[in-house]
Amino acid sequence: MSCCYVLDLRLAPQGVPAATYAYSILREMGSGETMRIWSPDEPTLLMAQLQNHMRHTLVCEIATDGQGYLITLHIRGPHEPLALADTLRRDHDDMDASLVRALAGAGAGRWVESVAEVIHLDRALRAHILLENELLAPLAAREAQESTALMRREHDDILIQLDALQEVCQASEESCGELNTWLGLLAATLNKHEYREESLLFGLWERASGVAGTRFLDEVRRRLSPAVS
Ligand SMILES: [Fe+2]
Ligand SMILES: [Fe+2]
Repeated sequence: MSCCYVLDLRLAPQGVPAATYAYSILREMGSGETMRIWSPDEPTLLMAQLQNHMRHTLVCEIATDGQGYLITLHIRGPHEPLALADTLRRDHDDMDASLVRALAGAGAGRWVESVAEVIHLDRALRAHILLENELLAPLAAREAQESTALMRREHDDILIQLDALQEVCQASEESCGELNTWLGLLAATLNKHEYREESLLFGLWERASGVAGTRFLDEVRRRLSPAVS
């Protein structure tokens, strides 16, 4: 990786969070460009925040000399498609954002807006679950038997919650409080579920999909919500 931008987080202005400081530079960079960041702190949380801001387009290498961490970040160019795990993380982020919008609408009594968002979320989440159950779960069925079984059980719970939400959406505007309650429950369920998948299964799926080839990845992208592609 050749490098153009260099950032030392020890020089961040007082009171400015490291992720905000780094993102202020990253957002000015173009696709295909690279930046090096020197961080005195372990950068896992920082990287998660930056990937979220940059919609998982970053390729990251981390090295340490025991005193701090040298992070090399490359913004994927137009001809560098997202890997499987980043594609799925981006879909998680998009669904989380949709859920936050639906919650905000229901909380403020904006029934029509919130119901429209729930319909969008319902479609995206069902497609995501179907993809994970049918196409991805078999990739690590033997190595991650327990995690895969847990994922499938959680999917069943999420689908029950989605059915309940659909029912509330058929009701009248007076049900805004009920909609808010169901959305809050779904947010709590999804939060734990996505974290478990990302930490227990995505790495295994990523390795197995490398063997499966680019056609497999194309199929994943085709079956996810249009926002991902
Ligand atoms: Fe899932
Ligand atoms: Fe997922």
